[in-house]
Amino acid sequence: MARYAHITGWGMAVPERVLTNHELSLMVDTSDEWIRSRTGISERHIAAANESTATLAVEAAIKALTEANLAPDQVELIIVASATPEHIFPATACLVQDQIGAIKAGAFDLSAACSGFIYALNMAAQAIRSGSLNNVLVIGAETLSKFTDWEDRNTCVLFGDGSGAFVLQGSDQPGGILSAVLRSDGSGSDLLIVPAGGSHLPASSETVANRQHFIKMKGREVFRFATRVMAQATREAVEAAQLTMDDIKYIIPHQANQRIIDNAADQLDIPIERCIINLERYGNTSTASIPIAICEAVEDGRIQPGDNLVMVAFGGGLTWASLVAQWSGPFPTKRKVYPAWYRTWARVASLVRRFRRYVEGAIWGTNGDS
Ligand code: UT7
Repeated sequence: MARYAHITGWGMAVPERVLTNHELSLMVDTSDEWIRSRTGISERHIAAANESTATLAVEAAIKALTEANLAPDQVELIIVASATPEHIFPATACLVQDQIGAIKAGAFDLSAACSGFIYALNMAAQAIRSGSLNNVLVIGAETLSKFTDWEDRNTCVLFGDGSGAFVLQGSDQPGGILSAVLRSDGSGSDLLIVPAGGSHLPASSETVANRQHFIKMKGREVFRFATRVMAQATREAVEAAQLTMDDIKYIIPHQANQRIIDNAADQLDIPIERCIINLERYGNTSTASIPIAICEAVEDGRIQPGDNLVMVAFGGGLTWASLVAQWSGPFPTKRKVYPAWYRTWARVASLVRRFRRYVEGAIWGTNGDS
């Protein structure tokens, strides 16, 4: 029997601190008027020193599991899509696994810049449709503020921090994720990049002095690329789902720039009201932008079960991706579970495992502080 991958849980988290355009105008040579008119952004959330990509991911994950009424120990796979992971390795997904108590889950990170959440959703859907997995947690989480050059007005006005998570579950009922289009063009890899810190340019005092650990962007080129691919990718995913644009209730575009979204709506010949847009309050949160926009639209009742949606994104790589999903909502369940409670148990279990390693180390010796 055919399997379908449904979105049954959703959750988002943003840091409390809000940075306004006015505050930015005191930091670099910019103005509220320029930022609003060129991007559509008014404010963004910025992580505190004790917040990171993993802490935001965990918060969104717990909310998504609560909506789906799914216990963390039933999750079989966690995928974290992020352009700003906690470390080069281990994967941020492993830290999330430990902190939410997903004791039976595999975990890995996916790197496709701002298109990463759609890539990850499609990977999860494929695993569910193949019959090998039933419950997958997909998270887009970012602390772009930690990789932003706060002296570079070309980039620092654009980005914000946040996370969004979906629970995907398998069922024999048709619906859920219907189609996806994933694309890349590495010839544009230099257009949006953190140049240093990888194997190409390892960290050195020189890379730090040259500010090469921050995001660098050729904005105009990325803009032109985005306006070329957004409408086209949307049409391709709709066609692959054997639907027409009239069957689609909302498009949820990557929230990067209001002008890019207006342009895509124009090319698709649809009113802008059919796009879900919230970038005014969050800026560009990369992999988190689409799930955050969807969470808000579900919470305020715009998105309802049965609605057909298109998600479409572009970003560094270059990558772009689109996906059609029929919104499902939670599966009916008999027993209420409380995923947040597992966090305490997860913490205790994690401490116990660390203590066991400490004891083993005391007996057998260690290789240092790891
Ligand atoms: O997730 C993907 C992430 N990336 C994107 O989505 C970026 C796509 N690109 C864009 O959104 C736009 O290209 C930007 C918003 C980044 C820039 O807008 P633009 O209309 O393409 O401006 P521009 O780069 O052509 O710059 C126009 C002028 C320049 O001054 P001159 O050379 O004309 O004197 C810039 O130096 O605006 C200047 N400028 C600014 N002025 C005030 C650039 N940034 C700022 C700023 N405040 N923050």
